Amino acid sequence: MAWPRRHKRPDPDNLQQSSDQATANAFATSWNHLPEGSIYTRDQFEDWLFPITEEDVHGKNVLELGCGNGSLMVHMCDWHPARLDGVDLGDSVTSAHENMSRLAFRNWQIHKADLVGYKGEGSYDLVYSIGVLHHLKQPKNGLDAVVANTKNGGRFHCWVYAREGNGLIMLLVEPIRKVASRCPWWFTKYFLATPLVFPYFIYAKLIRLSAHFSFVKAFPLY
Ligand SMILES: C[S@@+](CC[C@H](N)C(=O)[O-])C[C@H]1O[C@@H](n2cnc3c(N)ncnc32)[C@H](O)[C@@H]1O
Repeated sequence: MAWPRRHKRPDPDNLQQSSDQATANAFATSWNHLPEGSIYTRDQFEDWLFPITEEDVHGKNVLELGCGNGSLMVHMCDWHPARLDGVDLGDSVTSAHENMSRLAFRNWQIHKADLVGYKGEGSYDLVYSIGVLHHLKQPKNGLDAVVANTKNGGRFHCWVYAREGNGLIMLLVEPIRKVASRCPWWFTKYFLATPLVFPYFIYAKLIRLSAHFSFVKAFPLY
């Protein structure tokens, strides 16, 4: 794969051993097998960044910690930051690099590094980390890194999974995941995930069709 010369290529030799490496490796397997571009809609991006808006980003130096395949960074470019950097511990930096390389916006870098203890060049007006900190072995150390990279008077924005609204996930998906994470990927994909798509699809369609009944609002995933 060709790496544009103006952007620093992630250097695997500089990679410190991290207790989060196994998590990052697992994520990278998924991130690097997705279609090109962001996996998120514009609405999702804006929803997860709220209350941060374009006004807070325009002309500012921005850092994403735990950037995955760059799906949020791709949208972030439309808010015209002065500079946008992303950090991830996994090989998802490969697809992040590819996704960012397709954009007209050029002032970005992707670093393959552990966000815990990460210190970028200079500090940032805005540091954000979406869906990452709860995955860390030491979430507090991750939050410390977010704060350490935010300049005085700057802003940081973190989003983690909540118990609220995730009842079904905790009740059904978590127990399945405990088993699935120990199985080979092909078993999980073809013998667990694929069969579960059908009842899930029917459930989702029924919820949608019954949305005008107020009691449906109490149902999981409404
Ligand atoms: C759920 S994904 C979120 C990615 C991205 N923020 C998004 O919303 O699309 C979590 C990401 O955190 C990364 N990650 C986990 N531990 C990390 C660490 N210690 N340092 C850097 N990245 C890490 C994983 O590799 C993964 O790409």
